[in-house]
Amino acid sequence: MVDVKRAGEHALPTETRIWPLKRFTEIHKRSVEDPERFWAEEARKLDWYKTWDRVLEWDPPYARWFVGGKLNASYQCVDRHVKTWRRSKVAIYWEGENGETRVLSYSTLFYEVNRFASVLLRLGVRQGDRVALYLPMIPELPIFMLACARIGAVHTVIFSGFSAKALCDRVDDTQARVVITADGGYRRGKVIPLKHIADEAADICPSIEKIIVVKRSGEPVSMKEGRDLWLPDLLAEAESYVKPEPLEATHPLYVLYTSGTTGKPKGIVHNTGGYMVFNHSAYEWVFDIKEESIYWCTADVGWVTGHSQIVYAPLSHGAAMVIYEGALDYPQIDRWWEIVERYGVSIFYTSPTAIRMFMRHGEGWPLRHDLSSLELLGSVGEPINPEAWMWYYKYIGGERCPIVDTWWQTETGGVMISPTPGIEPIPLKPGSATFPLPGVDAAIVDTDGREVRTGETGLLIIRNPWPGMLADVYGDPQRYRESYWSRFPGAYYTGDLALRDQDGYFWLLGRADEVLKIAGHRIGTAEVEDAAVSHPAVSEAAAAGRPDPVKGDGIVLFVTLREGAQRSPELKRDICRHVRDTIGPIATPDEVHFIDLLPKTRSGKIMRRVLKAIAAGQSPGDLTTIEDEASIDEVKRAFASIR
Ligand code: WTA
Repeated sequence: MVDVKRAGEHALPTETRIWPLKRFTEIHKRSVEDPERFWAEEARKLDWYKTWDRVLEWDPPYARWFVGGKLNASYQCVDRHVKTWRRSKVAIYWEGENGETRVLSYSTLFYEVNRFASVLLRLGVRQGDRVALYLPMIPELPIFMLACARIGAVHTVIFSGFSAKALCDRVDDTQARVVITADGGYRRGKVIPLKHIADEAADICPSIEKIIVVKRSGEPVSMKEGRDLWLPDLLAEAESYVKPEPLEATHPLYVLYTSGTTGKPKGIVHNTGGYMVFNHSAYEWVFDIKEESIYWCTADVGWVTGHSQIVYAPLSHGAAMVIYEGALDYPQIDRWWEIVERYGVSIFYTSPTAIRMFMRHGEGWPLRHDLSSLELLGSVGEPINPEAWMWYYKYIGGERCPIVDTWWQTETGGVMISPTPGIEPIPLKPGSATFPLPGVDAAIVDTDGREVRTGETGLLIIRNPWPGMLADVYGDPQRYRESYWSRFPGAYYTGDLALRDQDGYFWLLGRADEVLKIAGHRIGTAEVEDAAVSHPAVSEAAAAGRPDPVKGDGIVLFVTLREGAQRSPELKRDICRHVRDTIGPIATPDEVHFIDLLPKTRSGKIMRRVLKAIAAGQSPGDLTTIEDEASIDEVKRAFASIR
């Protein structure tokens, strides 16, 4: 049980005294001293068709967890609950942006998952096949994920805000033959024509053989004979039970794409056993989930937070949750607080960007609502600044609820650094994610791999394998090695900056590489640049992040034009639109600047540090390696001209 009062009392920015943290320290010590024993104990909390022969086979950089064990993720999330009183418990309270609602008990969820699995089987989808899900935040999305998991198909969810090109790139990489989409999805009162976008993707993506269409918005859509199928028609013929496949623990559960430092997103692969064990345990430690909790994670299922913290972890615990389809400010800025009040949400998990957005509109909005059901708050996706933390603590949590600031990544599968009130309340410091979870051996090092001193900023690494760790980069083992394991041999490189304070608390300080966090979403500058140079007028492009008071990072794009192209505000808008259409609205540049020359080093590398500084309105710093100083003045001039 969370000692909310004490956690609250100690949640002050100046607080530095550490409690004895007896239980946490003891568990953490045990977990790193004998990880195999520790994880075997945790794994026994799940149901297995066959227990493992070996907990871990560690052949760096590949870790195989629970080798020889057999289980099924959909069984963990539904079957095991319908065998108990939870069959009548609410699994999902779903609310559409247009006010429509649906309530699914564990029984109905079980029924739907089985029928959807039957639909997939009847279409010839088999174990190991990849299935792409391009759906809005409707119950069909988690249901299809679980249906895939049930038959051993590997789902790849593509965020419904991505464009046809981004959808195609991802589908093409996995060679998925089946895409599941909806006629349309609601966003801020408008309908996003998802089926239409999927049609565009199918035109350029030869692997797509079938498109299953869920009815959501009632949009008229064109259905291509032989390729496109309405879900209701398929369900009419579906069976009501499909036996869950006993899968090897090392069988892939899903592939989820995330941005890295090249233009091509990485397909992060998570395997069934390790991922489920890690998430099941971490969820209990971090969210202190109770049978009676009503949990709401506001993320989109299209991102890893939705995979782990909406689908697999909470459902594996038989939790009751809220899923909301739409925008946070529709029809007005208190929509979320209205939802918290109406459903009596007790655990609320969101992003710093959302909090900062609410702060901007003032505490009057949440204060109109009774938020007294809340017991625990969470934050994820980007560093939370102490000011936003305090606002969240005060106006949403009523100075009563601890905040779990959870640091993790698509690659880590589950939460790695966070307070763990489910084990023991940890005194909180606004802006610090506190300590690594049991089983996680995190360190902060300099570029030579030596641990930095207290208070010094360094690179965050993880020195041991953990069950939620990515299994590979889909189809690209070389990239797996290079991105994560080559910089510090034997250790996993996170790409994040961090420091530890005098009490040993971890403070996460943002990315050390060229990956931006826009409203908590990962976008690589290289992806934005690739999109920009595919515009006919653009010759070269460089994207830089600029701190944004609400969304963390904003994109500033510097472009040089091809000969004959005329600089104009219209062209700027067109380039912006082009980037947006190529990737999706989240990648829309905030500013586009024309320049004659990009600042480059003598070896021809773009000086991103310089661009970044200039984009942020700061001095460009040390310029001794610059090719042509004139180019800096260019960038400065370009920047000055728009101020
Ligand atoms: C950042 C999201 C500070 C970090 C779950 C990481 C955070 C990247 C936090 C992963 C946090 C996530 N504090 N930074 N609590 N949580 N990050 O893959 O830079 O979308 O590397 O996973 O988000 O983003 P991803």
